[in-house]
Amino acid sequence: MTGNEQRPIRAIILYDSKTSGGSTDRLIDSIGHELAETGAYVEKAKCRANADYSFVKEFDVVILGAPVYYLVVSSQLLGALVQSNLKKNLRGKKIALFLACGSPEPMAITMYLPQLKVHLMRNRILAEKIFAPHQMDDPDAISEFVEEIEVEYARAIRTRNRASKLEWSDEALEMLNAMPSFISGKIKSSLEIYAEQNGISLITPEVLDIARSSPMGF
Ligand SMILES: Cc1cc2nc3c(=O)[nH]c(=O)nc-3n(C[C@H](O)[C@H](O)[C@H](O)COP(=O)(O)O)c2cc1C
Repeated sequence: MTGNEQRPIRAIILYDSKTSGGSTDRLIDSIGHELAETGAYVEKAKCRANADYSFVKEFDVVILGAPVYYLVVSSQLLGALVQSNLKKNLRGKKIALFLACGSPEPMAITMYLPQLKVHLMRNRILAEKIFAPHQMDDPDAISEFVEEIEVEYARAIRTRNRASKLEWSDEALEMLNAMPSFISGKIKSSLEIYAEQNGISLITPEVLDIARSSPMGF
């Protein structure tokens, strides 16, 4: 068991808005309170495009959020992802995203969210949420987002622990490496699930053979 499981989640909300005391400010306060009520340690920081984001390393989960103005995600958050060391400091971090905007959800998912996600291709995204104007003060919409972050975070930690406990014999690894890369990833994760379900801690060529002939097949 790692320290991460025992201590509360450390989350930071990195946000931007041009409106002081506006809907985004209210939204991040509500998200922060809701997360804190689950036992998480939460901080918030308003983005500046050229700030130093080394402090992000201290956190397990980074929640990025902003409103949309004139079809573009608010500029200091986008700017930080492009110009500062934010992206570098987000490496390996689990991310949640939210946008506040007036457009319908399908439009926001298609046009606005990708403006953030294009910078986060290597991150695990735990949850993403578009807050429409009527949802920004809706406790249910906020709880749903926070709950998804919690559940997905717990799932990510479980997966990591499972993977780190599991070992591969040299022979099994050789067999895996000999496979075309487009199939080896799928086989590796299927085998890891199979091993977990069957209490196997060392994957050998025999395990590979048995799993191959099992109903899950591959
Ligand atoms: C000047 C301005 C431009 C906006 N442009 C868009 C837009 O292009 N697309 C959209 O979905 N919402 C747009 N909105 C709606 C805002 O994203 C939404 O009201 C958001 O909650 C504002 O956040 P704030 O109160 O923190 O500024 C715009 C709002 C303003 C005031």
